[in-house]
Amino acid sequence: MSRCSLVLLPGDGVGAEVTRAARVVLEAAAVRFGHDFAFTEHLIGGAAIDATGEPLPEATLEACLLADAVFLGAVGGPKWDQAPKRPEQGLLAIRKRLGLFANLRPATVDEALITRSPLKPEAVRGVDILIVRELTGGVYFGERTRTETTASDLCTYSVEEIERVARIAFEAARGRCGRLTSVDKANVLETSRLWRETVVRLHRDYPDVALEHQLVDSMAMKLITSPADYDVVLTENMFGDILSDEASVLAGSIGLLGSASLGASGPGIFEPIHGSAPDIAGQDRANPIGAIRSAAMLLRYGLKLETEADAVEAAVVAAIVAGQLTGDVGGTLGTQAVAEGIAARL
Ligand code: NAD
Ligand code: IPM
Ligand code: MN
Repeated sequence: MSRCSLVLLPGDGVGAEVTRAARVVLEAAAVRFGHDFAFTEHLIGGAAIDATGEPLPEATLEACLLADAVFLGAVGGPKWDQAPKRPEQGLLAIRKRLGLFANLRPATVDEALITRSPLKPEAVRGVDILIVRELTGGVYFGERTRTETTASDLCTYSVEEIERVARIAFEAARGRCGRLTSVDKANVLETSRLWRETVVRLHRDYPDVALEHQLVDSMAMKLITSPADYDVVLTENMFGDILSDEASVLAGSIGLLGSASLGASGPGIFEPIHGSAPDIAGQDRANPIGAIRSAAMLLRYGLKLETEADAVEAAVVAAIVAGQLTGDVGGTLGTQAVAEGIAARL
C-alpha cells in the first residue's frame, strides 16, 4: 500500500472531460492494487485566467511542486485567443518551472485500429515509435520582439540542453530496438548544427545504438511513407510538437496518444498530446485513451508502479480490441463510458 499525492490540472475544453476519465482509471488501479491516491484539482490555462487573471496561479505551481505526479488535460480555446495573457503560457510556464525538458510521446499502431489510419494497413502495421521531444528550450522559450510591422522569436539551444534530452533518447533506444533517429534542420539552422554535433559526440557513449540523422522536412515525409522504419525519434521542441501530431495519424486519432514530460528530479506532468478540442468540447465525444495512456505513464514513470502501468495499458488494448471506443476511431461510446469500461477491466 502506498499513499501518493496526485495533482490534476483539467484546464480547458475537453481537458476537463479527459481528466475525469483518467481519474476514474487511476482510482480503479488504486483499488485493484491497494494504493491510496489522494487527488487534488488545481487551475491552469483559460480556467485559471477567468478565476485569477493568471494562466499559472502561484497556488497551482506550489501544489505541483509538492505532488508525486501531475496529470494535465489541455489548455486553450477561442475564448482567450485575444486575451492579453494566453492559456498556453500557463502550460509553457509549468513545464519550465518543473524543469521538464524531456517529453516522451509514444505512437503505436494497434492492430484492431489498423483501418482507422488513412494510410494503407501494410504501411502502418506494427508501427511503434517513441518521439523524444525537447520541451523547455528552442523557439518556444527564446526572446520575442514585436513592433507594428515586424516580429521575431529567438531560437536558442545550449550543449547542455541538447545533451540531457539526447541521453534520455539514447537510453530509451537501448531499452527498445536500439535505433535512434535525430531530427534537425542542420542544412539551414545553426541550432540544428549544434544539435547534430552534440548528438554525434554523445553517440560515443552509446556505441550499441544505431544513430541516423534526418532533416525535418524529409522526416515529415518518411513518417508517412515508411513509419515502421523508426524506433526512437529525438528532436527539438517545435519539430517534436509537429511530428507528434503527424504521428498520431498513423495510430488513427490524435485522441489516442499520451505523453510524459519529465525532468531530472521532481514530479513529472502526464498529458495527452491533443489540445482542448473546442469543436467537440462539452459533448462527451473526446477520446479518453490518450489521457488514460498518459495516466499509465504517470504510474510507470511518475510513481514507478510498473505492474499497475502494464495493467492499465492492457485494459486499454482490450477495450480497443472489443471496439468499446469513441466516434473518432469508429466506436459509438461517449468519453466517460469508454473510461468506465477500461476501469471495469481493471
Ligand atoms: P486540438 O488537438 O485541440 O484539436 C485538433 C483536432 O483534433 C480537432 O478536430 C479535435 O476535435 C480533435 N481532437 C483533439 N483531441 C481529441 C480527442 N481526445 N478525441 C477526439 N478528437 C480529438 O488542436 P487545436 O484545435 O489546434 O487547438 C485547440 C486549442 O488547444 C488551442 O488553444 C491550442 O493552443 C490548444 N492546445 C493545447 C494543448 C495542450 O494543452 N497540451 C495541445 C494542443 C493544443
Ligand atoms: C502540445 C501543445 C503545446 C505545445 C501548446 C499548447 C503550448 O501543442 O502540448 O503539444 O506546443 O507544446
Ligand atoms: Mn502540440
